[in-house]
Amino acid sequence: MTDPVQTLPEPEAVGKLYDRLTLSAMSDGTFNPNVHIGYWDTPDSEATVEEAMDRLTDVFIERMRVDGSSHVLDLGCGVGGPGLRVVTRTGARVTGISISEEQIRTAGRLAAEAGLADRAIFRHGDAMRLPFEDASFDAVMALESVCHMPDRQRVFTEVCRVLRPGGRIVLTDVFERHPRKAVRHPGIDKFCRDLMSTTADIDDYVALLHRSGLRLREILDVTEQTTLRLADELGKLAAAEERPAAMDEGNFDFGDDSFKPSDLAGADDFGCLLVTAERP
Ligand SMILES: C[S@@+](CC[C@H](N)C(=O)[O-])C[C@H]1O[C@@H](n2cnc3c(N)ncnc32)[C@H](O)[C@@H]1O
Repeated sequence: MTDPVQTLPEPEAVGKLYDRLTLSAMSDGTFNPNVHIGYWDTPDSEATVEEAMDRLTDVFIERMRVDGSSHVLDLGCGVGGPGLRVVTRTGARVTGISISEEQIRTAGRLAAEAGLADRAIFRHGDAMRLPFEDASFDAVMALESVCHMPDRQRVFTEVCRVLRPGGRIVLTDVFERHPRKAVRHPGIDKFCRDLMSTTADIDDYVALLHRSGLRLREILDVTEQTTLRLADELGKLAAAEERPAAMDEGNFDFGDDSFKPSDLAGADDFGCLLVTAERP
């Protein structure tokens, strides 16, 4: 089966999308400081969606190998929830960058409210052209952001440039799992269209990292622990009508027919990768 032609995301438009999502989540009371999937370690884990979202950040912390002397770049930092958790749990300094001005304003406010403004700085910028010196970070975290960027190789080359030798990048990314189905799950098309994303080519991922100057440490298919389970949990909550759906949709509910994470219920061909690489 041939790969579908993918429309490349345009950073400015992605920024406006996240401006809009942030403002609407704040005005309708569904704001969540984590704008990402959850991570459930085992099929019988009883973690709530919120606990699983924090657990994903902790999975990153375990792999980044940082401490109070480290400086971490949060690439596509959202409204700062994961970055602030890294500061609190490790003592590291975090600099977050997002293409959404509204997210940066919100992240700065949350850092100040948490009394962490001296350890967490958030600034507007494009991951395709990082406004940082070479070798200025000990680690990079990219939770669910690379899929919105039009050129993964350019991003990873930039990441390699700003990492110190031995520094690690940990990221999640989305891909289409094999075997490909004759008809893709409709939620995947909706995800790519409405969230301005592309799916990665898993067959090329290791070579992509190597071409960017990075050395692979680990590549894991975490679909069962993340996207599949999240869609399942959101379906259950929606059925129980326990609270506004958007609360659990990680700020992604536009209130119309656009994509929601629960659209991916049962989409076992929509995969999630957890990748750790380092600058040699
Ligand atoms: C799904 S959100 C994840 C946010 C955050 N990592 C989290 O886990 O809460 C995707 C993030 O990637 C950012 N992003 C997308 N394209 C970007 C680009 N070209 N440069 C910088 N940030 C970008 C968005 O602005 C948004 O903050």
